[in-house]
Amino acid sequence: MSGSASKDRAIRDPDTGSAPRHVAIIMDGNGRWATQRGLPRLEGHRRGVEALRRAVRAAIDLKIGYLTVYSFSAENWTRPFDEVQSLLGLLHLFIRNDLAELNANNVRVRIIGERQGLAPDIAQLLIEAESVTINNTGLVLVVAFNYGARQEIAAAARRLAQRVKEGKLHLDDIDADCFGAELETNDIPDPDLIIRTSGEQRLSNFLLWQAAYSEFVFLPVLWPDFDRAAFISAIAEYMHRDRRYGGLTAPQLSKKSAS
Ligand code: FPP
Repeated sequence: MSGSASKDRAIRDPDTGSAPRHVAIIMDGNGRWATQRGLPRLEGHRRGVEALRRAVRAAIDLKIGYLTVYSFSAENWTRPFDEVQSLLGLLHLFIRNDLAELNANNVRVRIIGERQGLAPDIAQLLIEAESVTINNTGLVLVVAFNYGARQEIAAAARRLAQRVKEGKLHLDDIDADCFGAELETNDIPDPDLIIRTSGEQRLSNFLLWQAAYSEFVFLPVLWPDFDRAAFISAIAEYMHRDRRYGGLTAPQLSKKSAS
C-alpha cells in the first residue's frame, strides 16, 4: 500500500473491531508435539494436517476471505531427508484427499513459492489444486510451499531490474506499489493477522513485505493442538488491536480537529 493509500485507510477505516479479511498462519510445533509424546516427528506432522483441516473449516465458518498457511519453507529442505520426504508425502495426500472437499466448499486454492526445481509429480499436483478450484468464490486458501520471502523479494527485484535494463521501465517509477505488484501475492490483500503457534515469536522468512502492517498473535499451543477455540481467541485478540497504519485512529483524529 502506498503512503497516501495507507493514510487514507487510516482515516476512513481504522479497522478497530472488524474481523480480519486475511489471516496467515505459521504452523509451528509439530515436532515438539510428537517428541513430548514419545512419537516420531512424522506423527506430529500428520496431526498437523488434521489441525490444518480444522483451521480451514473454521475459516470458512468465520467467513474469512483469505487463509495463508506456511506449509514448507525454502529452508525446510535442510531437514533430514526422511522428514522432507514425509512432508512432501503429506502435501501429496492432503491435495489428493482433500481437494474434492475443498472444491465442494467453494474454496479456491492458491500456491505461492518457488516452483522451479520441484519434482514433476509435486509440480503437477500444485497446478491441479489451483486449476480445479480456479472458479471458486469462497475462502481463498493460500498454501505457501517452497516459499521464502527474501527469495520472493529478490526475484521481484531481478524482474524489475531486467525491465529497466530493457528500457521498458523507468527507474523513478519503481515505488512500493510497483514493487508489490511484482510479487506473487499481487492480487491478494496483505495479511491483517499473522498467527504463529508453539510460542516462538519470529517471522522465519514468511511474507516479509506483506506483513508491513500485520498484527501478530503468538499462541503457546503447539500446531497439532490448534483448534477452533484457539483460532477464535487469536481473532478476538486481533479485534481489540488499534490499527493505525502509521496514521491516527478515528478518535485521535476527532480529538485533534476539535482542539
Ligand atoms: C513446523 O513444525 C511445521 C512445519 C515445518 C510444516 C508444517 C506442515 C504441516 C502442518 C503439515 C503438512 C502441510 C500440508 C499443507 C500438507 P516443526 O516441525 O518445525 O515443529 P518443531 O519446531 O516443534 O520441531
